[in-house]
Amino acid sequence: MQSAQGVAIVRTVALLRGMLEQWRAAGEPIALVPTMGALHAGHLSLVEEAKKRARRIVLSIFVNPTQFAPGEDFGSYPRPFARDVQSFAAAGGDLVFAPETKEVYPAGFATTILVGGPAKAGLEDKFRPDHFAGVATIVAKLFNQCRPDLAVFGEKDYQQLKVITQMVRDLDLDIAIVPVPTVRAEDGLALSSRNEYLSAEERARAPLLHAALALCRDALRQGMPLKDALVQAHDMLTNAGFVLDYFEARHAETLAPLDQEGPIRLLAAARLGNTRLIDNIGV
Ligand code: PAJ
Repeated sequence: MQSAQGVAIVRTVALLRGMLEQWRAAGEPIALVPTMGALHAGHLSLVEEAKKRARRIVLSIFVNPTQFAPGEDFGSYPRPFARDVQSFAAAGGDLVFAPETKEVYPAGFATTILVGGPAKAGLEDKFRPDHFAGVATIVAKLFNQCRPDLAVFGEKDYQQLKVITQMVRDLDLDIAIVPVPTVRAEDGLALSSRNEYLSAEERARAPLLHAALALCRDALRQGMPLKDALVQAHDMLTNAGFVLDYFEARHAETLAPLDQEGPIRLLAAARLGNTRLIDNIGV
C-alpha cells in the first residue's frame, strides 16, 4: 500500500478489505464516494457531505470502461491521479481505492446488473443504451468491495442517482444513498470533468443550458403551460447552436412522464460542438 499526504492508496480488493475491516472493528462509520477521478469542486462537495456523516471517507477512482460506448471518451477521459489524491487529502479523506481494470474485471467476468424503472426512462438511456448497466454493475461491485455505511452521489447525474437508489432498494443493499446538490461555476454551468473539452468560445455559451432550465422552471412556477415552457427553452438552446438530445419534464422521483401530479424535475442533455453536456433542475 502506498500513501500520500496521509491518504492511503489501495489498488486491490484484498488490501481494501483489510483496511476497512480495521475501521469497522473500531466502530468507525465508513462513507464511499465513487468517482472516475479528475476531481473538481463538485466531487469535493460530496466528500464534504460524507465527512459530516461518517468518520472514514473512501474515494474510489476508476474510469469504468463498461459504462462508455465505443466512440465515447473512455480513452481521452482525464486522469490527473496525483492531483486528485492531493485534493482528496486536502478535503480530509482517508483512502483512495484506485483498482486497475483487470482487478475489477478479471478474465472470465460475466455478470451485468440491469436496472429497470428510472434506468429505462428514455433520457440518458435512450442515447447511451448500455450506460446504466455499466454504472449499476460497477457501483454494485464497489458497494460489495467496500461495504460502506453510506455512499454519496451528485444530483448533477440525476438519472444515475435514481438508478442507484432503485438498485439499492431492489437488492436490499444496506447502504444509505446520500444525494448532494449540483455545484456550479459562477455563471451557472454545472461543474463537470468534461467541461475541459469545451473551446473558449463554447465555454462562454455553455451556461445557457442551465439558463434554459432555470427559465423553464420559472415559467412553470408562474403558470405557463408545460408545452410552451419547454418550447421556449428548446428554442433558446437551438438558437444558440446547441444540438439537443432531450429537454424534458419528468416526475422527480420515478422519472416517469408527467401524467399525474407530483414533484417535477427538468432534465436536459445537449451537444455543443463535440462536447455533450447534461444538467437538471428541480421545479
Ligand atoms: P463522475 O462523473 O466522476 O462523478 C462522480 C460523482 O460526482 C457522481 O455522483 C456525480 O454525480 C458527482 N458530481 C459530478 N459533478 C458534480 C457537480 N457539479 N456537483 C455535484 N456532484 C457532482 O458519476 C460517475 O463518475 C460514475 O458514473 C460512477 C458513479 C463513479 C460509476 O463509475
